[in-house]
Amino acid sequence: MGDVLIQRALDAKARAYVPYSRFAVGAAIQTEDGRVFDGVNVENAASPVTVCAERVAVGAAVTAGARRIVRVVVATDADPPSAPCGACRQVLSEFGDDAMTIEAVGPHGHRQWTLADLLPDRFGAKDLETS
Ligand code: THU
Repeated sequence: MGDVLIQRALDAKARAYVPYSRFAVGAAIQTEDGRVFDGVNVENAASPVTVCAERVAVGAAVTAGARRIVRVVVATDADPPSAPCGACRQVLSEFGDDAMTIEAVGPHGHRQWTLADLLPDRFGAKDLETS
Protein backbone atom coordinates (compact mmCIF):
# COMPACT_ATOMS: atom_id res chain seq x y z
CA MET A 1 0.00 0.00 0.00
CA GLY A 2 1.64 3.22 -1.13
CA ASP A 3 -0.30 5.63 1.04
CA VAL A 4 1.81 7.06 3.87
CA LEU A 5 -1.09 7.89 6.17
CA ILE A 6 -2.66 4.44 5.80
CA GLN A 7 0.68 2.78 6.46
CA ARG A 8 1.25 4.90 9.57
CA ALA A 9 -2.17 3.93 10.94
CA LEU A 10 -1.56 0.24 10.25
CA ASP A 11 1.90 0.37 11.84
CA ALA A 12 0.53 2.16 14.90
CA LYS A 13 -2.23 -0.44 15.33
CA ALA A 14 0.44 -3.05 16.06
CA ARG A 15 1.51 -0.99 19.09
CA ALA A 16 -1.96 -0.54 20.62
CA TYR A 17 -2.17 -1.31 24.33
CA VAL A 18 -5.29 -3.47 24.43
CA PRO A 19 -4.96 -6.21 27.08
CA TYR A 20 -8.67 -6.03 27.93
CA SER A 21 -10.63 -5.68 24.69
CA ARG A 22 -7.97 -7.02 22.30
CA PHE A 23 -9.47 -4.48 19.87
CA ALA A 24 -6.40 -2.73 18.50
CA VAL A 25 -6.81 0.68 16.89
CA GLY A 26 -4.19 2.78 15.13
CA ALA A 27 -4.89 6.32 14.00
CA ALA A 28 -2.88 8.64 11.78
CA ILE A 29 -3.75 12.25 11.13
CA GLN A 30 -2.37 14.69 8.60
CA THR A 31 -2.32 18.36 9.41
CA GLU A 32 -2.52 21.17 6.87
CA ASP A 33 1.24 21.73 7.03
CA GLY A 34 1.73 18.15 5.78
CA ARG A 35 2.91 16.63 9.04
CA VAL A 36 1.62 13.24 10.17
CA PHE A 37 0.93 12.20 13.76
CA ASP A 38 -0.17 8.83 15.00
CA GLY A 39 -1.78 7.30 18.05
CA VAL A 40 -3.02 4.03 19.49
CA ASN A 41 -5.71 3.15 21.96
CA VAL A 42 -4.35 2.95 25.49
CA GLU A 43 -6.53 0.82 27.74
CA ASN A 44 -6.64 0.73 31.51
CA ALA A 45 -7.81 -1.73 34.15
CA ALA A 46 -10.14 1.05 35.23
CA SER A 47 -11.96 0.96 31.89
CA PRO A 48 -13.49 4.47 31.76
CA VAL A 49 -10.05 6.05 31.57
CA THR A 50 -9.14 4.16 28.40
CA VAL A 51 -8.17 6.59 25.64
CA CYS A 52 -9.02 6.07 21.97
CA ALA A 53 -6.34 6.07 19.29
CA GLU A 54 -7.78 9.12 17.52
CA ARG A 55 -7.59 11.25 20.63
CA VAL A 56 -4.02 10.18 21.33
CA ALA A 57 -3.11 11.25 17.77
CA VAL A 58 -4.88 14.59 18.17
CA GLY A 59 -2.96 15.15 21.39
CA ALA A 60 0.33 14.48 19.61
CA ALA A 61 -0.55 16.96 16.87
CA VAL A 62 -1.58 19.72 19.22
CA THR A 63 1.47 19.10 21.41
CA ALA A 64 3.64 19.62 18.32
CA GLY A 65 1.87 22.89 17.55
CA ALA A 66 -0.37 21.67 14.72
CA ARG A 67 -3.98 22.79 14.85
CA ARG A 68 -5.63 22.04 11.50
CA ILE A 69 -6.40 18.43 10.67
CA VAL A 70 -7.19 17.68 7.03
CA ARG A 71 -7.21 13.87 6.88
CA VAL A 72 -7.56 10.98 9.33
CA VAL A 73 -7.06 7.25 8.88
CA VAL A 74 -8.27 4.77 11.49
CA ALA A 75 -7.00 1.20 11.25
CA THR A 76 -8.66 -1.74 12.99
CA ASP A 77 -9.09 -5.45 12.39
CA ALA A 78 -12.84 -5.00 12.04
CA ASP A 79 -14.83 -6.01 8.98
CA PRO A 80 -16.31 -3.74 7.78
CA PRO A 81 -13.68 -1.25 9.00
CA SER A 82 -14.81 0.73 12.04
CA ALA A 83 -15.58 4.43 11.94
CA PRO A 84 -14.40 6.64 14.83
CA CYS A 85 -16.58 6.69 17.94
CA GLY A 86 -18.79 9.68 18.65
CA ALA A 87 -16.48 11.21 21.23
CA CYS A 88 -13.55 11.08 18.81
CA ARG A 89 -15.63 12.66 16.06
CA GLN A 90 -16.29 15.60 18.35
CA VAL A 91 -12.61 15.91 19.31
CA LEU A 92 -11.57 15.82 15.62
CA SER A 93 -14.22 18.42 14.89
CA GLU A 94 -12.41 20.96 17.09
CA PHE A 95 -9.48 20.99 14.68
CA GLY A 96 -11.00 20.80 11.21
CA ASP A 97 -13.76 21.80 8.89
CA ASP A 98 -16.68 19.91 7.36
CA ALA A 99 -14.50 18.67 4.49
CA MET A 100 -12.01 16.83 6.72
CA THR A 101 -11.51 13.38 5.20
CA ILE A 102 -11.95 10.45 7.57
CA GLU A 103 -11.03 6.97 6.38
CA ALA A 104 -11.28 3.53 7.94
CA VAL A 105 -9.14 0.62 6.91
CA GLY A 106 -9.39 -3.02 7.90
CA PRO A 107 -8.32 -6.38 6.61
CA HIS A 108 -11.02 -6.39 3.95
CA GLY A 109 -11.69 -2.91 2.83
CA HIS A 110 -11.57 0.81 3.01
CA ARG A 111 -14.35 3.28 3.84
CA GLN A 112 -14.28 7.04 3.50
CA TRP A 113 -16.38 9.93 4.76
CA THR A 114 -16.17 13.62 5.43
CA LEU A 115 -16.47 14.99 8.94
CA ALA A 116 -19.84 16.45 7.90
CA ASP A 117 -21.00 12.93 6.99
CA LEU A 118 -20.07 11.55 10.40
CA LEU A 119 -21.02 14.53 12.55
CA PRO A 120 -23.74 16.60 10.92
CA ASP A 121 -24.85 19.81 12.66
CA ARG A 122 -21.85 19.57 14.91
CA PHE A 123 -21.41 21.67 18.01
CA GLY A 124 -18.43 23.98 17.84
CA ALA A 125 -16.88 27.28 18.81
CA LYS A 126 -19.48 29.14 16.75
CA ASP A 127 -22.17 27.95 19.14
CA LEU A 128 -20.46 29.73 22.01
CA GLU A 129 -20.69 33.10 20.28
CA THR A 130 -23.55 34.92 21.97
CA SER A 131 -25.11 37.99 20.50
N1 THU B 1 -11.53 2.68 20.35
C1 THU B 1 -10.70 3.56 19.71
O1 THU B 1 -9.49 3.59 19.94
N2 THU B 1 -11.26 4.42 18.81
C2 THU B 1 -12.58 4.45 18.49
O2 THU B 1 -13.00 5.31 17.72
C3 THU B 1 -13.49 3.45 19.04
C4 THU B 1 -12.95 2.61 20.14
C5 THU B 1 -10.93 1.75 21.32
C6 THU B 1 -11.29 1.98 22.75
C7 THU B 1 -11.08 0.61 23.35
O3 THU B 1 -9.71 0.47 23.70
C8 THU B 1 -11.39 -0.35 22.21
O4 THU B 1 -11.34 0.45 21.03
C9 THU B 1 -12.75 -1.02 22.30
O5 THU B 1 -13.76 -0.10 22.52
